[in-house]
Amino acid sequence: MSSYAEELRATAQAMMAPGKGILAMDESHSTCNQRFEKLGIPTTEERRRAYRELILTTPKLSDFISGAILYDETIRQSSQAGLPFTQMMQAAGLIIGIKVDTGAKDLAACAGEKVTEGLDGLRERIAEYYQMGARFAKWRAVITIGSQMPSLTCLEANAHALARYAALCQEGGLVPIVEPEVLIDGNHSIQRCDEVTDQTLQVVFSQLRLQKVALDQMVLKPSMVISGQDCAQPASVEQVAEFTVNCLRRNVPATVPGIAFLSGGQSNLQASQHLNLINAQYADRLPWRVTFSYARAIQQTALEHWAGNDAQIPAAQQLLYHRAKLNGAASLGQYSAEMEQQQPVLA
Ligand code: 13P
Repeated sequence: MSSYAEELRATAQAMMAPGKGILAMDESHSTCNQRFEKLGIPTTEERRRAYRELILTTPKLSDFISGAILYDETIRQSSQAGLPFTQMMQAAGLIIGIKVDTGAKDLAACAGEKVTEGLDGLRERIAEYYQMGARFAKWRAVITIGSQMPSLTCLEANAHALARYAALCQEGGLVPIVEPEVLIDGNHSIQRCDEVTDQTLQVVFSQLRLQKVALDQMVLKPSMVISGQDCAQPASVEQVAEFTVNCLRRNVPATVPGIAFLSGGQSNLQASQHLNLINAQYADRLPWRVTFSYARAIQQTALEHWAGNDAQIPAAQQLLYHRAKLNGAASLGQYSAEMEQQQPVLA
């Protein structure tokens, strides 16, 4: 058992505090730069820093956000006034999270499939991040749905890496967020996504057990069970909620303290509606807290509004706060369509 067991349980509980979720702001340089380029924002370290400062200085963000996941560059950065982001987060009551994988790379012998890397030197990196104040970590595995995909090779390789990562995190005092993302890309049905998510979670939990990961000291970050984005007959909100709940109930042990979904390319509206219905309709049948760990579904509107123009920072922060608030409500099953109309009035 990890000597950090008590601390890890407490951190996991705090990450899953009622009415709150986790903000993913751990885009790698290349992902962040791609999003900046689309909006004509210079892809410099300074602009990435300015954007992350915008997010972290959003007033009262911790009303609805328990913790935020940073990227390696970000955890080392400071505000324009020279205050380290880590200190700003601690003062704001935000738990510090860190992405520790080094990205999804092509999987040899499996065309079109990926395996996430980053295990080399991970024990030492975890120790450094813990010293810097991080208390949880994230590792994202990517599963693609296609005619011959996913292969068992891909599922096993990714699950093995996720489990090795999670065990190292627990040894070093970080709560592992275990993120097996079944991609929304493609024209597959919700039934096919269900099948693949089922298979993925089975392999992931089998590997977590094999690597002796304490299931009560981790957070699962899955994708929802949803039809592919090019599916001719998109699944309804009711179907997504029902399929997702059933799939998770079949596969996720009750000892796991919490589930925090990724948004995975869903619209803002869908991400809030789905999370809300899952909680409104099924919370009394779920053994875990179910909330969000969204990046795009919380950040995108704010990013577009800011678009690199610092005069827009207060307005962008209002937009960010608004989406955090709506998803906080959805994590309690208390979100409503009317709340979408209460858009902040922007100057
Ligand atoms: P999205 O919510 O944009 O899918 O991002 C979540 C995340 O952390 C992906 O790893």
